[in-house]
Amino acid sequence: MYDFRMSTPVVESVLTEQRSFPPAPAFAATARVRPDDLAVLHAEAAADPQAFWAGLARAEIAWRKPFTEVLDESRAPNYRWFADGELNVSWNCLDVHLADRGDKTAIVFEGEPGDVRTLSYRELHAEVCRFANALKARGVERGDRVVIYMPMVPEAVVAMQACARIGAIHSVVFGGFSAISLKERIEDAGARCLVTADGGRRGGQVIELKAAADKALAEGCASIDTVFVLRRTGEPVNMRQDRDVWWHDAVAVQGAHCDPEWVDAEHPLFLLYTSGSTGRPKGIQHSSAGYLLGAKLSSRWVFDLRDDDVFFCTADVGWVTGHSYVAYGPLAAGATIVMYEGAPTYPDGGRFWQLCVRHGVTIFYTAPTAIRALMKLGEEIPARYDLSKLRLLGSVGEPINPEAWMWYHRVIGRERCPIVDTWWQTETGAIMISPLPGVTATKPGSCTRPLPGIFADIVDDEGHSVNTPDAGGYLVIRKPWPSMLRTIWGDNARYLSTYWDKFRHRYYVAGDSAHRDQDGYFWIMGRIDDVLNVAGHRLGTMEIESALVAHPRIAEAAVVGRQHEIKGESVFAYVVCRGARPVGEEAAALTKELRDWVTEQLGAIAKPEDIRYADNLPKTRSGKIMRRLLRAVARGEPITQDISTLENPAIIDQLRG
Ligand code: WTA
Repeated sequence: MYDFRMSTPVVESVLTEQRSFPPAPAFAATARVRPDDLAVLHAEAAADPQAFWAGLARAEIAWRKPFTEVLDESRAPNYRWFADGELNVSWNCLDVHLADRGDKTAIVFEGEPGDVRTLSYRELHAEVCRFANALKARGVERGDRVVIYMPMVPEAVVAMQACARIGAIHSVVFGGFSAISLKERIEDAGARCLVTADGGRRGGQVIELKAAADKALAEGCASIDTVFVLRRTGEPVNMRQDRDVWWHDAVAVQGAHCDPEWVDAEHPLFLLYTSGSTGRPKGIQHSSAGYLLGAKLSSRWVFDLRDDDVFFCTADVGWVTGHSYVAYGPLAAGATIVMYEGAPTYPDGGRFWQLCVRHGVTIFYTAPTAIRALMKLGEEIPARYDLSKLRLLGSVGEPINPEAWMWYHRVIGRERCPIVDTWWQTETGAIMISPLPGVTATKPGSCTRPLPGIFADIVDDEGHSVNTPDAGGYLVIRKPWPSMLRTIWGDNARYLSTYWDKFRHRYYVAGDSAHRDQDGYFWIMGRIDDVLNVAGHRLGTMEIESALVAHPRIAEAAVVGRQHEIKGESVFAYVVCRGARPVGEEAAALTKELRDWVTEQLGAIAKPEDIRYADNLPKTRSGKIMRRLLRAVARGEPITQDISTLENPAIIDQLRG
């Protein structure tokens, strides 16, 4: 049982937040979805959810073979949507636009050094076909897994779309993850092909991806027979003759035509590994048709996309946001997207705004952690840029605190642009709860209401709807939706236990706590499992703990989250050493070593901000670590729970440091 009174909402002032911002009349007047449209959509979805989704699926997807069955519940909660239909996702993102939008810019890319490249839909289509042919030439077939470990360059999207074109299943691994994390993901997926680059650029540094890939492959990954290597930085790399192929060599000999592989609606489009509450990351498996429908529709509804928009989603393709709102949704909707390779603060905190001006960005979507980091640098920086083309702003990945929301609204949106605070997850595939910019009055810190067809609710421990304003509960989804995850790759039992068992398979349990206010607006309070949200990225406490105890000096470790001004949450580790507890200089040296160690094991995003040494960890009688106590200590909060059972009460002082 989870005690919702004890959860510390990241949005602290929710109960006092009274501000409300109706859509600007100028925006509302031309919005794609207007109040009457939304009312109709909600009414249709409520009356017959399956007919609602079927109608949209027929209208939005170009089917090779139309489906006759909408939702197959026979193996619930392994739901299947549109299962006897056939399609190709890449066809739906590219070929469908060639007649009307062939010369329209699909991707505007800017590298960190400032190099710019644009690809029209026709050019993108040709690149995708060439690379798809290159994959086939190396024997990659329908259903094979391809791991993509790339910088944020157009070829990352080309590789994803090429997999979709031939029915291969991609698994993108974020370029900031370590060789060890890459190896684990390759092995779990049993991938036969890896697509990487010599490196990428971030924050003025070169990230050596091929070197990390070599390390991963040297330690296992027996299933890999081909590695494609894109030249991006030009730094020297090792190429293994029989296995490694330069991207440019591979595509040079291929034609710009590749017939799509028609697949079933339920054919897996991709896996994306995400952290859970146990040590091993889980491969979230998405479908083809349902996922495409969710990504495309939400792109249109929430971002109000029209033909002259330039959409800049700052997420890396290594995260789900970079899948749904870079690689798939906006392309399916025929939009122009901006891709940026590097860090938001390189060479200075004006980089995002410079990109917006240079490329005429009209819609900008980023994470609260970036907003807070840029806010800290002062409003003089954005004031130097003419941001008058921006018309809509978005936020994703973690709760946005009202202060950051107001700054975004005032300093970036110049009090003119609506803000869509979009709640969703890797598992949901697409945005679930969000304002519609031409309709919904927004409140700073609330993701407002579920989209049409999404039956989100907040329930108590018995599964009863919690309707008392401001009372917390589990965020659940009551009915299946097309873009939902289908399973966890290779572990359906974990799929059931993580998302469904809690309420006997009746609803999807998101793992977040939330409450509703008197207007029915949702306020997300944070995770209820052992998952941290650091700078918008999910990290499992167990994963970091396993990494720490893999160090020879460490006997035991417990990781909790602590509020962080910019990252939202930071990693706080309590560590018990083998032998004597280090103090003074020895402790400082070990702290540095452990931080580097975790970076090496998992990646820099998991690096503990704080490490505290103790002789032992506080445990309950049954031997469970008292995490709530550790959390309270890390956050400097008073300890409210019973500590009389502690073996060594003096430990509290040590934990306090
Ligand atoms: C959190 C990212 C509050 C939440 C798309 C969720 C949010 C987890 C929001 C999923 C939001 C995401 N407001 N919290 N607008 N968006 N979250 O899988 O805890 O990387 O469960 O997907 O991020 O993170 P994931």
